[in-house]
Amino acid sequence: MTSTPVPSTPQPNAQVQGFFDPATWTVTYVVHAGPGSACAIIDPVLDYDPKSGRTRTDSADRVVDYVRTHGLQVQWILETHAHADHLTAAPYLKRQLGGQVAIGNHITQVQKVFKGLFNLEPGFPVDGSQFDQLLADGQALRVGDLVGEVMFVPGHTPACMAYRFGDAVFVGDTLFMPDVGTARADFPGGDARALYASVRRLLALPPATRLFMCHDYPPGGRPVAFETTVAEQRERNIHVHDGVTEAEFVALRTRRDATLEMPVLILPAVQVNIRAGEMPPKEANGTAYLKIPVDAL
Ligand SMILES: [Fe+2]
Repeated sequence: MTSTPVPSTPQPNAQVQGFFDPATWTVTYVVHAGPGSACAIIDPVLDYDPKSGRTRTDSADRVVDYVRTHGLQVQWILETHAHADHLTAAPYLKRQLGGQVAIGNHITQVQKVFKGLFNLEPGFPVDGSQFDQLLADGQALRVGDLVGEVMFVPGHTPACMAYRFGDAVFVGDTLFMPDVGTARADFPGGDARALYASVRRLLALPPATRLFMCHDYPPGGRPVAFETTVAEQRERNIHVHDGVTEAEFVALRTRRDATLEMPVLILPAVQVNIRAGEMPPKEANGTAYLKIPVDAL
C-alpha cells in the first residue's frame, strides 16, 4: 500500500538585501521572508582604520537601520568563515538587535592555527565556544518560516560554510562574480583542490539558484555586483566554468595565489574574528591591543 504524499508546505521566498562595503569590497546580507519577519544577518562588517587602530560602526548601523525599518527580528548572525579582509561586527549587532552568532564547526581548526601564530593567551579556547553556535554540514537553519541549510564548502579556509535558504545561497568566499572567478586558497589551511570540490557542489544546485557573493572586485570599471546564478557561473566563470578540470583549476589557482599580497587587514581581522568579533582582553591600562607577528605569516 502506498501512502498519500503529504503536500509540502510552500516555502516563502527568501528576500535578500545586500550592503556593499567599498573599503573592504565585502557584502553583508540580511535574509528574511518579508517585513515583520525573522531574519539572519550574514557576514557583517565592523569598520576598522588600520592607520589609527580605530573602529567605527557606520557599516553595521546601515544594517541596524534596515532591520529596524522593516520590523525584522534577528534570529541569526552568520559568518561564512573567519574573514581575513574585515573585522566582523557580529558582537555589536548582537548587542543592538539580538540573535545568535554562528559559524562553521571547523572554526576550531582555524583557532588552533592562529592561536599558535599569534601566541594568544593560554586561556584562549580553541573549541569554538566564543560563538553561540557551531554549525555542521547539512544542518537545518530556521529563520522564522524560512528553512535554511548549512553547506560545508572548504578550500578558501578549512572552515568555510555556505548558507542556502530556498533558491538563495550565500556562497561566502568560494565563487566570485563570473568575471572575477574564485577566492584564493593560499591562507593557512586553504586548499585549491578542496575549493574546486566545494565549487562543483554549489554549481550542482538547480541552474536558476541565486548565488550571493561575499565580495566583489569589479574589473574594468564595471559597476559593483554580487548576485548571479548557478547557470551564469557554469557558463561564464573565468576560473571554473563547466569543462574546467580539477587539475586545470588547481594549477591556475596556485599560480594566481603566488602573485597575491596578503590582505591589508589580515592580521587585525583574523585575531578578532576567531574571537567571534570580540577584541582581545584589555591590558592593565584598560586598552585592548592587537598583535603583529614579525616574519611569521
Ligand atoms: Fe575570506
